[in-house]
Amino acid sequence: MTTTASPASVSLERLTKRFRTPESREVVAVDDISLELDGGSFVTLLGPSGCGKTTTLRMIAGFEAPTSGRILVDGADISRKTPDKREMGMVFQSYALFPHLSVFENVAYGLRLRRQSGKALSQAVERTLELVNLTGLGQRRPSELSGGQQQRVALARAMAIEPRVLLFDEPLSNLDAKLRVSLRAEIRRIQQQLGITSVYVTHDQSEAMALSDVVVVMKDGRIEQAGPPDEVYRRPMTRFVADFIGRANFLEGEVQSSGEDHAEITIQGQPMRVPAAPGVRPGVRATVVVRPESVRIGSGDLRAKVGRSTFLGPLVEYELMLDDEVLLAVDPDWMGKGLHQPGDEIAWSLRPDQAYALPPSAADELAAVDPDAVPVEPAG
Ligand SMILES: Nc1ncnc2c1ncn2[C@@H]1O[C@H](COP(=O)(O)OP(=O)(O)OP(=O)(O)O)[C@@H](O)[C@H]1O
Ligand SMILES: [Mg+2]
Repeated sequence: MTTTASPASVSLERLTKRFRTPESREVVAVDDISLELDGGSFVTLLGPSGCGKTTTLRMIAGFEAPTSGRILVDGADISRKTPDKREMGMVFQSYALFPHLSVFENVAYGLRLRRQSGKALSQAVERTLELVNLTGLGQRRPSELSGGQQQRVALARAMAIEPRVLLFDEPLSNLDAKLRVSLRAEIRRIQQQLGITSVYVTHDQSEAMALSDVVVVMKDGRIEQAGPPDEVYRRPMTRFVADFIGRANFLEGEVQSSGEDHAEITIQGQPMRVPAAPGVRPGVRATVVVRPESVRIGSGDLRAKVGRSTFLGPLVEYELMLDDEVLLAVDPDWMGKGLHQPGDEIAWSLRPDQAYALPPSAADELAAVDPDAVPVEPAG
């Protein structure tokens, strides 16, 4: 298996999918989304349950026909093609292996459908098994493998046909936490080695950040924000995105003045210069997104009581009791500074350059967020 000469670019153009439920209710699963995927990029669809991730992926794969909109690969419309003509490989949450076939035959399946046989076939299978670190296990049945090994077989089966696009639907969620982390690193390694354009569905934000060139945060069938993980983390466009990617505090502030991408905002009685989204103007109350690691513990002009302190090893997590809210802070330098206990009065400050101010319109949205939308680490 060699590096794909020219990785496929994929465009989603105003894709919409409506379902009619048995009670004749209409569900808009995917609502007019457009997205450009560069060739060779790893793109994650991230969002709460029911936001339309799987439906989007199934439309790309050809298992579901769009109600409207188009899917292009390298500029050519493939919307009418059947799945087997799309040159895509898909990996599912439930590995969906053939239980009666050996590992070798599972991986060979797609190649046999494409009329490959003999030495070329066995070489292709062996190469793929080697790529996913399963050399020597070809003769086993899926039932004779661990969950992580089975998922590697599923990955090998999807890759054996040398697809132009790889699609993943929560492939790691049946595995325990350690295995998830090591297998996701392997998926990333293989994807980069081969340069296959990949679309990966997950509701695990740490998985999305670790894997992706581009994270697409979805909500209610729509794209809330798409961008590189660090950008989405640093400059979330809505309160929903800030809350879904990582953890965030939201502090209210009075906007005094504003420039192109900054604003002077009074937060907790202190004037600060904060990077700001469009729409943050004097006279409005901004919502300032503050990541826990951007709260400085033990120095500064502000004072708060420690409500809760959780020791996590590399860092300590504190809840600081402000007048009208609780601020989450993490201290990576507890070894240097010592630990604080609940009830301690401490000094603190913000790193304003690491905060991000949102206008009221982007912040109001939280009212519409349902409780399921809280990012959940899958159990295990
Ligand atoms: N065949 C169908 N018939 C009717 N409604 C459907 C069908 N498939 C999906 N839906 C609905 O479309 C919406 C999006 O579903 P989808 O499976 O794409 O969500 P998801 O983001 O993958 O969620 P999860 O994280 O739970 O897997 C949901 O409201 C779902 O109930
Ligand atoms: Mg799904």
